[in-house]
Amino acid sequence: MEGVRVLAISTSPRRGGNSEALLDRAVSGALCAGAEVEKVILHDFQVSPCLEKRGCEKTGECVIQDDYPFFYERFLSVDRIIMACPVYFMGVPAQAKALVDRCQCIWMRKYRLKKRIEATDGVGRRGYLVSAGAFKSPGTFDCLMKVMKYFYLTLDMEFAGDVCIDGVDAKGDIEKHPQTLEAAYRLGAAAGTP
Ligand SMILES: Cc1cc2nc3c(=O)[nH]c(=O)nc-3n(C[C@H](O)[C@H](O)[C@H](O)COP(=O)(O)O)c2cc1C
Repeated sequence: MEGVRVLAISTSPRRGGNSEALLDRAVSGALCAGAEVEKVILHDFQVSPCLEKRGCEKTGECVIQDDYPFFYERFLSVDRIIMACPVYFMGVPAQAKALVDRCQCIWMRKYRLKKRIEATDGVGRRGYLVSAGAFKSPGTFDCLMKVMKYFYLTLDMEFAGDVCIDGVDAKGDIEKHPQTLEAAYRLGAAAGTP
């Protein structure tokens, strides 16, 4: 059997930042588990926000012409997604929200057109989150978590784990938290395991 297909998406516009460092550790874990991993930087793609043209209502496909089809094709076919998000204004960054909102076409497929996304035989579809925020407060990840759980539900993926750390702000702060990086590695290993 081929390795589990994992799509790892870094949504921060800051390259090499805290959430991307967590993602990189997760990618290492997934590769070590034998997975086939594709890592992408969302900021390198043109993904418009949803424009509510509602073209997807009949077809389940988005009518906006940009780079979204790259993600659409993978969202329907990969076994696992690991999304890395910094916390922006208590939620996901605009880049990540645009991508999530564009999955309205997948919502239409699922709930209106009644088309489920088939899992690979014997391999469950699962979604994961790694996240970094600056403020040490109990609710730092609440909003972001709700968005991500609904995103994965729409994609017919079980939300299977997260590693979230607060109190990290400057680039490189995450390196002071080896246990959290280790937790991200374990998350990736789980994501990469059938
Ligand atoms: C526009 C913006 C909004 C932010 N809002 C929050 C916030 O609401 N809560 C928080 O804890 N941190 C907030 N932060 C801090 C980032 O979450 C933090 O610096 C994080 O480590 C950045 O991750 P990155 O290096 O992966 O981009 C904000 C940062 C920016 C640039």
